[in-house]
Amino acid sequence: MAQYDVVIIGGGPAGYNGAIRAGQLGLSVAVVEKRETLGGTCLNVGCMPSKALLHASEMYELANKDFATLGIEVTPTLNLPQMMKQKAESVTALTKGIEFLFKKNKADWIKGMGKIAGPGKVEVTGPDGSVTVLETKNIVIATGSEPSGLPGVTVDNKRILDSTGALTLPEVPKSLIVIGAGIIGLELGSVWRRLGAEVTVVEFLDRITPGMDAETAKTFQRTLTKQGMAFKLGSKVTGAKSSKTGVTLTVEPVAGGEIETLAADYVLLAIGRRPFTQGLGLESVGIVPDKRGFIETDHFKTSAPGVWAIGDAIHGPMLAHKAEEDSVAVIETIAGKYAHVDYNLVPSVVYTYPEVAWVGKTEEQLKEAGIAYKAGKFPFTANSRAKINHETDGFAKVLADAKTDEILGVHIIGPQAGEMIGEYCVAMAFRAASEDVARTVHPHPTRSEAGRQAAMGVEGWTMQA
Ligand code: FAD
Ligand code: NAI
Repeated sequence: MAQYDVVIIGGGPAGYNGAIRAGQLGLSVAVVEKRETLGGTCLNVGCMPSKALLHASEMYELANKDFATLGIEVTPTLNLPQMMKQKAESVTALTKGIEFLFKKNKADWIKGMGKIAGPGKVEVTGPDGSVTVLETKNIVIATGSEPSGLPGVTVDNKRILDSTGALTLPEVPKSLIVIGAGIIGLELGSVWRRLGAEVTVVEFLDRITPGMDAETAKTFQRTLTKQGMAFKLGSKVTGAKSSKTGVTLTVEPVAGGEIETLAADYVLLAIGRRPFTQGLGLESVGIVPDKRGFIETDHFKTSAPGVWAIGDAIHGPMLAHKAEEDSVAVIETIAGKYAHVDYNLVPSVVYTYPEVAWVGKTEEQLKEAGIAYKAGKFPFTANSRAKINHETDGFAKVLADAKTDEILGVHIIGPQAGEMIGEYCVAMAFRAASEDVARTVHPHPTRSEAGRQAAMGVEGWTMQA
């Protein structure tokens, strides 16, 4: 029987990063993964394929609509099979890269479905049906998440799609209805709108992207609407009927009122994700997940000794970089080191055009907590690089403690906002004051100057606006 220091169930960002860190620290480690490739949701059907399509479709739209302004005359033709092929090739290169890192760090990949079979035991059913039992000092649950369902709307990935189906459509829909104005709905809705679909987003709440700073979300919605995306807020979908050629949805105002019927070629259901913790043998070690399926943890420790849980399977933002952070922390804890994750400093990025990125608190959260704050805001219309590039949508906003000037939250909407937010993650990790950023030289001409100018705005001496 194979014996390990650590067996991780799940080979996504939580699992593979944990395995690599364990190997680096000299622990014997195996990852049990049921997919044919490593990398989990993120590499196979999440972050990476969606970003590949977002990039390619953004280039297509630029070529179609914006190149002429720059004096470049082209008439682009969409080659969807090639777009899908380059996406698949990039994904394969990335998943193979993880296999290489496993070899380099002496982590074993045990292919198959893992199940906890009592303390220190993981049973693996391989693709051929054979069963192996692994013995281990520590079990780490990193089984991730899956799309949430909606009663009355059955995903068949033919006409009614989840995110995985929406990443592999064989044609550009004439019309696409997205249920849920969250990150998946807006990213994948943007992909298909850019490629030619008429996209309508139906959202239960009276705003888009809950959790995003409200002022930023308003600007974001306005920009997406300008691009041609339609929104139906405060509406709930109560049923869906699909045929060979399309889908009919029944939609009802949340506040009550007339029921409406909407028709489209395809529907994308994107109303959130739930932890994937079924069939895992949790009962064999006495773990009871909460009502939504999340495993409760205290510093990644579950209620069962020697069993840990990380990533999307536990509470917190369902993001790859959060899963990675959890994994390093749990392995370092197992190795007897001190480890800590600051969940307040987990950034979020929506990879649309423009991008939206933020870290720390929103204005709404600060108001609710009764924290007095100062805000500095700088529009990209006043940033020279944005102007030169004809990319002036959006702004950067810095929120700082009214008394101490410590930066409490940063919200950026604009092209490459995701690249700009890292600076503020570092600043906030060092508990910087907004004046620290305001007095730091930034290269000219760059978009990062808008981030600095927003910090200057907190001090009341913005130079350029
Ligand atoms: P997962 O990546 O879900 O991995 C879990 C793995 O465990 C899976 O491979 C599964 O097959 C395996 N598994 C489950 N149960 C068993 C079992 N019993 N035995 C063996 N194997 C098992 N996050 C970002 O930060 N940035 C993004 O841009 C981003 N884009 C996304 C786009 C989409 C369309 C989606 C769906 C998600 C996106 N996410 C993004 C979220 C990100 O993918 C997840 O937060 C991340 O993958 C979570 O990592 P994880 O390792 O916890 O779980
Ligand atoms: P989400 O939680 O981001 O958004 C779901 C949206 O659906 C919300 O606006 C919610 O109010 C709405 N909703 C819920 N029930 C509804 C109903 N019955 N009818 C209409 N609307 C309804 O979830 P989403 O977009 O599915 O993404 C899941 C998770 O995946 C994200 O929260 C994020 O953690 C991760 N992700 C991250 C990405 C990134 O970092 N760029 C990209 C894609 C996904």
